[in-house]
Amino acid sequence: PQILIVGAPGAGKGTQSANLVEEYGIEHVTTGDALRANKDMETEHGTPREYMEAGELVPDELVNEIVREALESADGYVLDGYPRNESQVEYLESITDLDVVLYLDVDREELVHRLTGRRVDPETGENYHTEYDMPDDEEVRERLVQRDDDTEDTVQERLRVFEENTAPVIEHYEDHAGFVRIDGEQTPEEVWDDINEAVDERV
Ligand code: AP5
Ligand code: ZN
Repeated sequence: PQILIVGAPGAGKGTQSANLVEEYGIEHVTTGDALRANKDMETEHGTPREYMEAGELVPDELVNEIVREALESADGYVLDGYPRNESQVEYLESITDLDVVLYLDVDREELVHRLTGRRVDPETGENYHTEYDMPDDEEVRERLVQRDDDTEDTVQERLRVFEENTAPVIEHYEDHAGFVRIDGEQTPEEVWDDINEAVDERV
């Protein structure tokens, strides 16, 4: 299947994408991870790092290219973190078709809480949370790091950028065939059950 997962920063896109990858054997195409892996790459617009640490969008030309290349070589995918504005929507529609669009709906207060408490295992990329999801293994616990953009100030800016640029993208997809709103405030397991059912019905 060709799946798009949309939602605000912290909605659980990365967490649920991992489940989709496992269940359907598809590629996880994520602009956020791709950019983090190339943070200091020099482009004509500067480095991705400058934008990401400020919570701003990286220029479209750069992310469009990342997505085009990744989708070209994928046999089934879950696309996470893209499109984030209307111009990216247009570009995406020119290169591929989507079977399912999953919208993870979560309140702003909950998003701030999740993001500021998130910790990442730099070795596996796995996400944890300081309050309700820490690894049992002490070695893993000790190597966890906080993402540069998960500080309180940058989180607020990312949410502002989301409201301004990406909320209209979600409105755009509401009339799209295959659109489904998922209650993202449930437990990760409950969210996954809803997603699994929704995708199975549509592919
Ligand atoms: P990106 O990496 O895409 O970040 P984001 O969209 O801000 O989303 P996150 O990864 O923070 O959240 P998520 O929805 O994946 O949630 P997660 O599963 O981790 O982008 C980062 C930056 O890159 C952007 O700001 C921008 O600068 C740049 N960029 C990327 N794409 C771009 C584009 N297309 N155009 C331009 N610039 C772009 O979960 C979050 C936390 O909550 C975790 O701790 C997790 O354990 C926990 N959690 C998850 N689900 C639940 C649940 N159900 N209940 C409780 N806790 C949960
Ligand atoms: Zn993510």
